[in-house]
Amino acid sequence: MIEPDRILRLEADRVVLLDQRRLPDVEVEVECFSAQDVADAIQAMVVRGAPAIGIAAAYGYALAAARGEDLATADRVLRASRPTAVNLSCALDEMREDPSFERARILHEDEVARCRRMAEHAVALIRPGTRALTHCNAGGLATGGYGSAVGALVAAHERNLLEHVWVDETRPLLQGARLTAWELEAAGVAHAVIADSAAASLMAAGAVDCVMTGADRIAANGDSANKIGTYGLAVLAHHHSIPFYVVAPTSTVDLATATGVAIPIEERAPAEITSRFRARNPAFDVTPAALIAAIVTEAGVHRAPFADSLAAEVAPA
Ligand code: MRU
Repeated sequence: MIEPDRILRLEADRVVLLDQRRLPDVEVEVECFSAQDVADAIQAMVVRGAPAIGIAAAYGYALAAARGEDLATADRVLRASRPTAVNLSCALDEMREDPSFERARILHEDEVARCRRMAEHAVALIRPGTRALTHCNAGGLATGGYGSAVGALVAAHERNLLEHVWVDETRPLLQGARLTAWELEAAGVAHAVIADSAAASLMAAGAVDCVMTGADRIAANGDSANKIGTYGLAVLAHHHSIPFYVVAPTSTVDLATATGVAIPIEERAPAEITSRFRARNPAFDVTPAALIAAIVTEAGVHRAPFADSLAAEVAPA
């Protein structure tokens, strides 16, 4: 497991982030000296993944408080840095009462602890010899340590339940091919990177037993936003009668958003796809709850209908 402090940490006068844009080729850090620096790094995806950007925002806010920055401005720029992951606003809400370094570091520790508990629940869904497919990166890099969906897959590997992981490359920024493959390699998990478009034929060939992904925001009814392409995988999994699982902490559940229709979807720069032609670059899509076999949080395994069990577990904001 990548040490949480190596992924991101708060030092006396700076927030230090492992630059995920450069992985796996180079391991370099980016230093942020203000809330604006942290917001810029989140926007540029130096740090990415819903829980990790929440932790980065908490660190940025604590740093802003220590520097005597205007906290309303710090909150505004951090909150606006990426719109889809609810963890960002959730973390900033938690920091408002006590913007101390200690509080921010506890928030980081809590996220990693949630991941470990999620993995314990998620392995119960994985049968011996499973060949899983995952999309984007829901590993330690995305959560500040351990990982949600990838953490669960590593835990399944450690219990000899997992045969193999198909890793969607995850166009256009290749979080799967660069980050998930790197993490699985480090954990000794058998895996192969595939083009996103290969998932359908692998499923048709009977080579996929389950799909497991993270989420950026889970609406009150269970509709789940995640990296663009996740919805397509869920449709494919449904067609092939393969269970589709979402593994995410309660900090990703947004009871104030009734259904997926109301989840804001980030639209990123077309240049991430092509600089030659016009392009559209929606960064996330929403998987309807009806396509999700289970949502796993640190509290347990939720089955449809999700609304009551999610509401019972998540305190209203
Ligand atoms: O654009 P990204 O790389 O931040 O997107 C990340 C994802 O879609 C992850 O699957 C999600 O944040 C869950 S991370 C545990």
